[in-house]
Amino acid sequence: MRIVVTGGRGMLARTLLRTLGIRHEVVPVDVQEADITDAAGVNELFARLRPETVIHCAAMTQVDDCEAKRDLAFRVNAEGAGNVAAACERQQARLISISTDYVFSGKLDRPYRESDPAEGAQTVYGQSKRAGELQVLANCPGALICRISWLYGPGGPSFVHTMLRLADGSRPLLKVVNDQHGNPTSTLAVAGHLALLLERPEIDGILHLTCEGDATWYEFAQEIFRLKGISQAVVPCATAEFPRPAPRPPNSRLEKARLRELGLPPMPDWHAALKQFLALSSS
Ligand SMILES: NC(=O)c1ccc[n+]([C@@H]2O[C@H](COP(=O)([O-])OP(=O)(O)OC[C@H]3O[C@@H](n4cnc5c(N)ncnc54)[C@H](OP(=O)(O)O)[C@@H]3O)[C@@H](O)[C@H]2O)c1
Repeated sequence: MRIVVTGGRGMLARTLLRTLGIRHEVVPVDVQEADITDAAGVNELFARLRPETVIHCAAMTQVDDCEAKRDLAFRVNAEGAGNVAAACERQQARLISISTDYVFSGKLDRPYRESDPAEGAQTVYGQSKRAGELQVLANCPGALICRISWLYGPGGPSFVHTMLRLADGSRPLLKVVNDQHGNPTSTLAVAGHLALLLERPEIDGILHLTCEGDATWYEFAQEIFRLKGISQAVVPCATAEFPRPAPRPPNSRLEKARLRELGLPPMPDWHAALKQFLALSSS
C-alpha cells in the first residue's frame, strides 16, 4: 500500500516509516514538501503522490507554545488537518488522523471513552486539535481519528528522554508530578495497531489507541529508572509546584472500548511497551 505520512520528520512518523515501511511503501512529507496550512500545496502534493492512505501526524505539538501562538496553533492543528482531509477526499485516499487526549477537559474521574463528548479542553493545543478532529470528519467523512497520549519513541523528544537525561548523577532528588494520570504510550505500540487498522479500511470515526494500564508521571519515572537499573531518587510532587503556561490535564486516561468492540487485540500494557522500547534503544 502507498502511504503518505504527514509530519514525516516527527517522532511518531519516524517510527511509522521504520515499521510500516517493511510491508508498505511509506512516503514521509513534512513542512518542506508541503505546509499543511497551504490547502493548494497539500492538494498538489497528494495529486502527485497518489496515496491510498494518509496517516496525518503533522501538528503543532508544543503545548505551551500553542498558548502563546493561538492563531498559528489553530491554523496548523485545525485548518491544516482540514486541508489534509479535503485533499484525501479529493484523491479518494483513506485518512487516519492522529489526535490527543487533550481534546477532553481532563476533569472526569474515570478513563475517557470514545463516546464521551470531547468538550471543555483547557488548552489552546487541545481546543485546536478538537477543532481539527471536527474539520477532518466534515471534510473526509470516512476518516479514522486515533487519539493517543503520553507518547514516547525512538529519537524523542519525550518524557522518557527527559528523565534519562536528568538522571545523570548530578541530582540527589528528582521531583516528579504525581497527581496527573495517563497511559504512557510507545510509538512502536501505536505503529503496531496502525498496521492492523490498515487492513481494516471499513473502520472510521474515533478510536482510542493508548497503551493499557495507567500511571502518574512519578510512577512512569520510577519504572523507567527501575528498568534501566538507574538508582535515581524520585520524589512525588503536585502539579501546582510546576506552573506551566498550558494547564496539564489531571486525567488523560483513555478507555479502549471501541478496540474491543471491533475485535482488535488490546494495545500492549505500558510496562511491557516501555521495556521493549528501552531494550531496543540500548541495543
Ligand atoms: N507527543 C505526544 O505526547 C503526543 C500525545 C498525543 C497526541 N500526539 C499527536 O500525535 C501526532 C504526532 O506527534 P509527534 O510527537 O510525533 O509530533 P512531532 O514530533 O512534533 O512532529 C510533528 C511534525 O509536524 C511538523 N509540522 C508542524 N507544522 C507543520 C505544518 N504547518 N506543515 C507541515 N508539517 C508541520 C513538525 O515540523 P517542525 O518540527 O518543523 O515544527 C514535525 O515534524 C500529532 O498529531 C500530535 O498532536 C502527540
